[in-house]
Amino acid sequence: MTAPDAAPVTSGANGGAHVWRGIIEEYRHRMPVTASTPIVTLREGGTPLIVSDQLSELTGCEVHLKFDGANPTGSFKDRGMTMAITKAHEAGAKAVICASTGNTSAAAAAYAGKAGMVCGVIVPSGKIALGKLAQALVHGARVIQIEGNFDQALDMCRQLDERYPVTLVNSVNPYRIDGQRSAAWEICDQLGRAPDVHSMPVGNAGNITAYWRGFNEYLDDKIIDRLPVMRGWQAAGSAPIVDGRIIEKPETIATAIRIGNPASWKQAEEARDQSGGSIRKVTDREILSAYRLLAKQGVFCELASASSVAGLLKLHEENLLEKGMVVTCTLTGHGLKDPEWAISGAAKPVTIKPDADIAAELLDLA
Ligand code: F0G
Repeated sequence: MTAPDAAPVTSGANGGAHVWRGIIEEYRHRMPVTASTPIVTLREGGTPLIVSDQLSELTGCEVHLKFDGANPTGSFKDRGMTMAITKAHEAGAKAVICASTGNTSAAAAAYAGKAGMVCGVIVPSGKIALGKLAQALVHGARVIQIEGNFDQALDMCRQLDERYPVTLVNSVNPYRIDGQRSAAWEICDQLGRAPDVHSMPVGNAGNITAYWRGFNEYLDDKIIDRLPVMRGWQAAGSAPIVDGRIIEKPETIATAIRIGNPASWKQAEEARDQSGGSIRKVTDREILSAYRLLAKQGVFCELASASSVAGLLKLHEENLLEKGMVVTCTLTGHGLKDPEWAISGAAKPVTIKPDADIAAELLDLA
């Protein structure tokens, strides 16, 4: 448990570097906590904003990647989960539950573990990346797989929340959104301004809701002087907001956003409309191509995350970006969660005797 209003640690060899304390402490005055709230944190947030020289050159814009795969459990969910679990803990909850395409369950399991709570997770059988399942299990969650999809799992969790003594920690829990606003604030703090365009994946639509709220609060407080245009992206086979109807059987290789009936549907449309932006489709092929493009420049994100860059490339092809624009893309999760896709598209490594000369030849050094 972090002491309330703990002073930042400023000693050390580099004499006075700020040590990141997690999003609740860093943005305490914007968070729904009091001096006595028992904060449950893994020091999430403070993730890198990486300039992409390649994407900047290609588009003529200044393109920055907000790499939220660098969070403690490898996704942006930690921002919402530190807040949701903190508030559940403060209220005396003993157990939490969530439905998940994988990342929410990993984060819920980790933070519930830290707080000493029981964590139940309900996931679509066979449709979550192996790394995410491993995380939920290793952190001690009780994992239930259903013969059904995310939307059905969320429906079950809502019923459990209503009928049993358990706290729901999906993004329909408002504290999740409160925590996830921090990513928008960090982007503005790191840039020293608001981006002109912000691009991000849309699944259950909690995150785009949180970003839009975050940007608006910074505008109200005059920390930024304009709002970005929001560009959200759904996978083509799972695009209920774009198609304007519930998708009963959503499909995509980007399993994190394989969702047919987003809980924050209306709020996502508000963010889209109020910002003069759009929520559109990217195909699995476009997602995979953006994923490989990012990996080649040293950034390993998961497929769903790459949709923000696939979308950016689409905007560029359609001449919808202006030269010199500052563009940010959120990369929501780490590629290591799902290494299968990385390996499947790459050449198989060769096996040789332990001989330096043979290695030199293979490496074209000889
Ligand atoms: N990117 C990743 C890596 C995700 O895991 C998710 C959602 C999203 C994007 C979409 O965010 O739902 O706020 O629009 N994953 C949830 C989960 C559904 O269960 O982990 P959203």
